[in-house]
Amino acid sequence: MQTIHSLADMTCWSNEVIGSGSTIALVPTMGYFHEGHLELMRSASRLADRVVVSLFVNSLQFGPSEDLASYPRDLARDSSMAADENVDILFVPTDIEMYEPDFNARVRVDGITDTLCGKQRPAHFEGVTTVVAKLFNIVKPHITVFGQKDFQQFCVIRKMIRDLNWDIEIVAHPIVREEDGLAMSSRNTYLSREERGKGLCLHKAIQHAKKRFDNGLTDAELLKSEIHDIISAYSGVSIDYISVVDKNNLSDKEVIDSNSVLALAVRVGQTRLMDNCFLGNDTETSN
Ligand code: PAF
Repeated sequence: MQTIHSLADMTCWSNEVIGSGSTIALVPTMGYFHEGHLELMRSASRLADRVVVSLFVNSLQFGPSEDLASYPRDLARDSSMAADENVDILFVPTDIEMYEPDFNARVRVDGITDTLCGKQRPAHFEGVTTVVAKLFNIVKPHITVFGQKDFQQFCVIRKMIRDLNWDIEIVAHPIVREEDGLAMSSRNTYLSREERGKGLCLHKAIQHAKKRFDNGLTDAELLKSEIHDIISAYSGVSIDYISVVDKNNLSDKEVIDSNSVLALAVRVGQTRLMDNCFLGNDTETSN
């Protein structure tokens, strides 16, 4: 595996690969890898000839009171983990090259960003779409792989790709969970032992929702209120949202059907945790 820092060197490598007729899969990340990231890398290497993993803690997507400064970083650890996978390039651009002092451009996707996490974090998705658009232009991937845990992020990038006519296939990788069901996230490192236990309320809620839907419940309001009760039983956990949305456009559902996704976000202490599941499907993946 080779590490590239310069934007020009990255594009030069991609041009050579594309010129030779090979395909490139890009896995965008902010680093501090866990098994979930490694699964994205493995999936990418099954889908394309060459794999690029970008590692960039993107200041644009953090709000003023969010965790940009404390976001976990360990390049040496990440490099050795990626090197054990089938990764060709670890692309680690510098802040100064990505966002030069006179950088003024923004890429925004309206509508689909106004709901779920977008309500609480108004500038977040604009930061995500801007950096991912830059990464697409620099790396020129044929395929990109995103984790389904950030389901809204996946939907927003999919919409951006369609609206801006990029010839890029986007693939969602199912949520990777710890043995006890906690969805893997770099932010789980913020949790104390006690908080980690409380974070399991999300998995418990998801299991409940799947069972209720399988047993015929279709009333979204009723399901949300049952989930509210499950999560509220955990002290120190505050609910950001409990939503049942359409998997294609994230509009709210009143009647749960096989296109429905249950999306949850809570705060455990200072840490924001998210989780979701498809209600009408055994598999957690959907493109
Ligand atoms: O999901 C993430 O880690 C980030 O939002 C992404 C897609 C790498 C953009 O910075």
